[in-house]
Amino acid sequence: MIKTKSKIPTPFNPEDFRKEGHILVDRLSDYLHDALSGKEMAVLPWSDPDRLVDFFSFDSAGGEEESLDAFIKRIIDNSIHIYHPHYIGHQVTSPLPATVLVQFCTTLLNNGAAIYEMGPVNMAMERNVIKRFESLIGYSTGCDGIFTHGGTAGNLTAMLAARQVKTDYNIWEDGVKGINRPGYMISEQAHYSIGRNVKIMGLGEESIVKVPVDSHFRMRTDLLEEIKTAAENKGIRIISVVASSCSTATGSYDDLEAIADFCAKYDLWMHVDGAHGMGVLFSEKYKDRIKGIERADSVVIDFHKMLLVPALNTLVMFRNGERSFETFAQKASYLFQKSQKNVWYNSATRTIECTKSALGIIAYAAMKYYGNGYYRHYIDSRYDLAVTFALMVKSDSKLRLAAEPESNIICFRFASEGYNDLALNQINSEIRSRIIKEGSFYIVQAELSGKIWLRLTIINPVTSEDDLKTLLIRISELGAEIGKNV
Ligand SMILES: Cc1ncc(COP(=O)(O)O)c(C=O)c1O
Repeated sequence: MIKTKSKIPTPFNPEDFRKEGHILVDRLSDYLHDALSGKEMAVLPWSDPDRLVDFFSFDSAGGEEESLDAFIKRIIDNSIHIYHPHYIGHQVTSPLPATVLVQFCTTLLNNGAAIYEMGPVNMAMERNVIKRFESLIGYSTGCDGIFTHGGTAGNLTAMLAARQVKTDYNIWEDGVKGINRPGYMISEQAHYSIGRNVKIMGLGEESIVKVPVDSHFRMRTDLLEEIKTAAENKGIRIISVVASSCSTATGSYDDLEAIADFCAKYDLWMHVDGAHGMGVLFSEKYKDRIKGIERADSVVIDFHKMLLVPALNTLVMFRNGERSFETFAQKASYLFQKSQKNVWYNSATRTIECTKSALGIIAYAAMKYYGNGYYRHYIDSRYDLAVTFALMVKSDSKLRLAAEPESNIICFRFASEGYNDLALNQINSEIRSRIIKEGSFYIVQAELSGKIWLRLTIINPVTSEDDLKTLLIRISELGAEIGKNV
């Protein structure tokens, strides 16, 4: 056993923490400067996975003798650089540095958020964030919200509420029974968590009732009636429509007003997966994308995507707050006294998770310092840049756009004359693979109707028009080179 003079055991020495903390903040600040300014560095320092396991073996770099600073440096050097202006791939944000500092504090405090006593500040701040979103969405009083770790868990929380409220027996207690199994109508382009959640609920493939999309990859609301009837003829009782605001692959916004009308007509639960696209709540220019949002029964908003906070941090809003208490009718008497069952400040009654980190404090900090002005500027500038990029693509005869961008997500591809679709799929996959391995940019790909497209999410606040021009030049060079051998 380690002996110390002080009552404080060695690993908990505040002076060591102070010293290491200052070194860490200096290192991170230098890193942030280099990454944001687009300094020469591979956006993804590619390593073979097995090589990296060896590189980080416990006895590597001196094992326990390695300084904390050297260890941190090795982590940074081998990570993907999200703050680099050439990071334009998945929907993972460059967190606002101030929210990272707040999270540094909440990590040390380690207050949970299952019950009020274990995270009073978090619960109070969470409440104020929910009130702010009540007015942003345009809900009337009586709405409520809850934080979850991520959009997948958020969607599941809302979809469970839909199931509990719209099924004509107590499905939570009794399980799925009878022939009329509950069904969710979802877009063919819905995020995979939506279909997966239906299966997690034990409902099976037939309960995922897919609605085709139009040429802009939006849900075909003109087909809703017909598809509902067809599902019901097969013994599926439709209980909900899930809209995407926006979809993951192409960033397309479903028509919320048409979906709300349909849900109102048949008394269905309208859920909006706004994990990525709800940032437009802050934008005068782009808010029309979500016209009708105030009619949704539930909405998922990922703070860790377009609201620039560290992952994971999701808000689920319910139009009728009472509904959010119905989902989990489970008893946990060691945590909740009977009279406290339906109180907002014991959040564990309403989420899948028990212990949670202080998500409310981080979201509150972001809203407090950036919510009134920066978000609008940020969202507008990223959506505007996507429009500019689309114009660049359209002006180059070797490139094709999958659809006009409705958000900051864009799909396009190298499509020079003389190649069939199969060859173009091969060329575009190879373009992406070479780009990420050479480290010049980080971009991703999406498959739409059997075609491979290059996909960008212009989520980084410092990515500029010039960065995108450089990307297109590189794509054309690689396309011509790879095309010679296809
Ligand atoms: C539209 C949409 N919904 C849900 C999710 C899942 O969110 P999370 O990764 O926070 O679980 C994503 C992730 O990309 C998404 O784009």
